[in-house]
Amino acid sequence: MIKLNEHYLKLSANYLFSEIAKRVRAFQEAHPEKEIIRLGIGDVTRALPKACIEAFHAAVDEMGEDATFKGYGPDYGYDFLREKIARDDYQSRGADIALDEIFISDGAKSDTANIQEIFAHDIKVAIPDPVYPVYIDTNVMAGRTGDPEDGRYQGIVYLEGTKANGFIPDLPGEPVDLIYLCFPNNPTGAVITREALKRWVDYARENKALIIYDAAYEAFLRDESLPHSIYEIEGATEVAIESRSFSKTAGFTGTRCAYTVVPKACTAFDSKGGRQSLHPLWSRRMSTKFNGVSYPVQRAAEAVYSREGKLQVRALTDAYMANAGLIRQAMNGLGFDCVGGINSPYIWVDCRMDSWEFFELLLTRAGVVTTPGAGFGRCGQGFIRISAFNKRENVEKAMARIQQTLGG
Ligand code: MLT
Repeated sequence: MIKLNEHYLKLSANYLFSEIAKRVRAFQEAHPEKEIIRLGIGDVTRALPKACIEAFHAAVDEMGEDATFKGYGPDYGYDFLREKIARDDYQSRGADIALDEIFISDGAKSDTANIQEIFAHDIKVAIPDPVYPVYIDTNVMAGRTGDPEDGRYQGIVYLEGTKANGFIPDLPGEPVDLIYLCFPNNPTGAVITREALKRWVDYARENKALIIYDAAYEAFLRDESLPHSIYEIEGATEVAIESRSFSKTAGFTGTRCAYTVVPKACTAFDSKGGRQSLHPLWSRRMSTKFNGVSYPVQRAAEAVYSREGKLQVRALTDAYMANAGLIRQAMNGLGFDCVGGINSPYIWVDCRMDSWEFFELLLTRAGVVTTPGAGFGRCGQGFIRISAFNKRENVEKAMARIQQTLGG
């Protein structure tokens, strides 16, 4: 008899963004005349940078000639891309990361979802609340939690982000083994200082723990005193794995390219208490379960590191950050407290009422899609997340409609 993985039955029926899409679809079917503006899921709307498109086209042409055609690529990514990442994203910022510690993948979502496979089942996992749901759901699927109770899974240590701590969770009050952190944060847009990040690195070192650091939104940092990578903190290569993505940085949500850094110095313990490097485990996992990102896509990602590519990526992220400023200003103007939108493309709004009710109000009365904070965890109740990823005119129109709906 075929049996299912019953841990899946503990999950809420729909992934957050699928649930939102379902509600929006239902509303649209009932009101086909209403124009909807989507500031919900963080999906980019602007075209790929010109440098990426040119590299993409050239690589597709190479695939059209026997002499330059490429079959399977290297499991961990092409060296031409890994080399640029190591140089420009890490070494240039004083982080000692080598080319062969970088694993190219199709997305930070898949990487942050899959990385838990290389850890034991009986570890204690610490996850922020509010949080990007993938970190929790994948640990539920893997059987590391008990049943959900009042919106939380037994066995998980929740690191609460609240207005009081500025949505930067305190260190755990009990021993934990695996910690997920994301900065600039999704969903709150909060950012972490070097000093605060050092406390986490020190905690991990002192407690033989490991940090999964999701830095998918680092390209939106504008305050240069803030760390772009956890490896800018001394000692982090021994206790942290970092994921980044070209999705939000360069408009690759539909193109798919990202990477995860597993430093060779990064270790975990075997059942006899011996230290083992994680690098060979992730290498083994990737070569068994992944066949690489396509050659043209990796060439397009490489172009992000060219002189023109850097300028174009900056212009792209600047445009979204201008939207973020507009959203923050409009929501502040309506009397709502906000976090984020200064060094991140998400604005976390204290809506002073039930998240889903506020979501429905904005959807049905203003025709604007946002993301209810409660979907990111219990601490997200009473907040909504507004994404800056849309065209300028749509953001202006959305804010005007919200002002009209709520303004008086
Ligand atoms: C979000 O809206 O939180 C993101 O777009 C989700 C993702 O990157 O997978």
